[in-house]
Amino acid sequence: MNYRLCGHSGLYLPEVSLGLWHNFGSVDNYDNARDILLHAWERGITHFDLANNYGPEPGSAEINFGRVLQSDLAAHRDEMIISSKAGYRMWDGPYGDGGSRKYIIASCDQSLRRMHLDYVDIFYTHRYDPNTPIEETAEALIQLVRSGKALYVGISNYPAEQQRAICAYLAAAHVPCLIGQYKANMFFQETLEQNLPVARELGHGFICFSPLAQGLLTDRYLNGIPEGSRATKEVFLHRADISEEYLTRVRQLNQEAQAQGLTLSQYALRWLLNHEGVTSVLIGASSVAQLENNIAFLS
Ligand SMILES: NC(=O)c1ccc[n+]([C@@H]2O[C@H](COP(=O)([O-])OP(=O)(O)OC[C@H]3O[C@@H](n4cnc5c(N)ncnc54)[C@H](OP(=O)(O)O)[C@@H]3O)[C@@H](O)[C@H]2O)c1
Repeated sequence: MNYRLCGHSGLYLPEVSLGLWHNFGSVDNYDNARDILLHAWERGITHFDLANNYGPEPGSAEINFGRVLQSDLAAHRDEMIISSKAGYRMWDGPYGDGGSRKYIIASCDQSLRRMHLDYVDIFYTHRYDPNTPIEETAEALIQLVRSGKALYVGISNYPAEQQRAICAYLAAAHVPCLIGQYKANMFFQETLEQNLPVARELGHGFICFSPLAQGLLTDRYLNGIPEGSRATKEVFLHRADISEEYLTRVRQLNQEAQAQGLTLSQYALRWLLNHEGVTSVLIGASSVAQLENNIAFLS
């Protein structure tokens, strides 16, 4: 595994990081989730990305991750970068969503308890909340660092204008934004055009989520829609996404990948990693075989 410095910081992240959005919840097979995490660790993936609401049910990915940490990886805590986030709805009432100080501090405390951690390495504001002054969200992140609950702070899904505004506030408080987390892949390039140049200019790192377009940029759907695949769940990906137009596009990309001796997923990840300023690609996987397929090309 290669490691890249995260923006103008002293922190290295692996070129491929693992996210626990899907496949690690209470509805999933725990032994499979544990196998994926341990394989990632053995292969040099030092960065694991979570959020308060990952599951389902919300919170359960953090609980399962904490369980694996305690049973198998406790001795390696200082060798890992663990992130979590708050920003989307997590609990009922007016304090379980958004960007208020109340929500962010309470949610971080809950995440730490679920994972049995004293601190997270990176805590993110998961989205820009137009109903909360950006200064308040920034102050909450600063408070997390000053109180030792987070070592670094990050932002996710912020439009470029608000990206600039919150980064300026954080920098002035000497708690610089470490990293921005944005959806980016061959099929979705807006953030590479709008947010990556700002990240480069401001000197923060950039991690691309859903780099395989939730499986669309793999061979998962080349020969039909497998039972149990994300498209069959009809929540974040849909059977209708596997259209003839998509298949034509993806077959072409698959041929290009093969011509270079890569699998389609490797081709898609390498394409992102070749963008100047990209620190890491944040993949998901539902099996050890998928994970290995995705990273086998890395030295
Ligand atoms: N900040 C945010 O708002 C935000 C939003 C979304 C995600 N994220 C982060 O980004 C992470 C990754 O997101 P993602 O899961 O959408 O990433 P992704 O890597 O684009 O998609 C992962 C899915 O693609 C399929 N797949 C992966 N490798 C494969 C292979 N070699 N062959 C066949 N299929 C393969 C699997 O789906 P199947 O289930 O079909 O096997 C897998 O679960 C999340 O866990 C989370 O940490 C952040």
